[in-house]
Amino acid sequence: MNVAAFTQLFITEQQPGIWLITLNRPKALNALNRQVLEQLHSAIVWIENQPDARVLLITGSGDKAFAAGADIAEMKDMNAQQAREFSQVGMTTMHRIESSRLPVIALVNGFCLGGGCELAMSCDFILAADNAVFGQPEVTLGVPPGFGGSQRLPRRVGPGMAAQLLLTGEKVNAEQALNIGLCNQVYPAQQLQERGIDMAITIANNAPQALYHCKRLVQASADQSIENGCRMESDLFGLSFATEDQTEGMTAFTERRKAQFTGA
Ligand code: CAA
Repeated sequence: MNVAAFTQLFITEQQPGIWLITLNRPKALNALNRQVLEQLHSAIVWIENQPDARVLLITGSGDKAFAAGADIAEMKDMNAQQAREFSQVGMTTMHRIESSRLPVIALVNGFCLGGGCELAMSCDFILAADNAVFGQPEVTLGVPPGFGGSQRLPRRVGPGMAAQLLLTGEKVNAEQALNIGLCNQVYPAQQLQERGIDMAITIANNAPQALYHCKRLVQASADQSIENGCRMESDLFGLSFATEDQTEGMTAFTERRKAQFTGA
């Protein structure tokens, strides 16, 4: 897909290797319809294909919302089969983000509800503006989450808090989201993007393969025994000693200089 074909989002390289996807349906609070989900999927693949890409940031356009959920107008009249298929489109995009070779950070600027919260949780971590509002209000619409929220929320905040949020459908503000571990940091709204880019630069200075190994190991920790997870860690630790970046990183330390990682 050519970058000009993305009508529902913007793609920009903010700094060398630091890419930002901005969902662009501000009038609908960046609600996730099928077209947005498919373009988001394609945009991630497109960015990953840029050889120098190091970190991906995802945010919403406008000052009101990251994404206020799956598109209710589009879903309203779906039958059971169409709804299941729509859910699968969303799930596929969320999995694609989760399995990206790149670290992915959600920059949550405002409403982050339903499918929007599910999108944020498919990223490696979430940075929030002080006006962020999180929640999984699907039950107030007569449905459970459809893009993985029932599975990713308990992994982020624990089963008890996840059940409370899912069953009440109540929203939490940025400070509360920070307290329950849903987001990692809260910044003044005007600083969110800049602070996100700063953090992305810190990440991008590290060795790409080591980053990918860390990402996989953290994800694996949610689903397997500590023995299996530690075995996987040993394997990936060993594998990293076959990379040029390991030689560079440890040599740079002994030579008291900053390492220059290439991803090799
Ligand atoms: N889908 C489609 N359109 C949406 C939307 C959504 N999820 N959320 C907001 N919009 C639209 C509104 O319809 C409105 O459009 P119009 O101006 O054309 O009427 C526009 O965005 C602005 O919204 P509001 O006027 O409602 O703005 P507000 O400031 O009064 O309220 C809000 C903001 C509290 C976020 C409110 O819009 C809201 O509750 N939105 C729905 C949130 C929600 O329930 N999300 C879950 C969706 S279901 C889901 O996501 C399922 C899944 O897991 C896959």
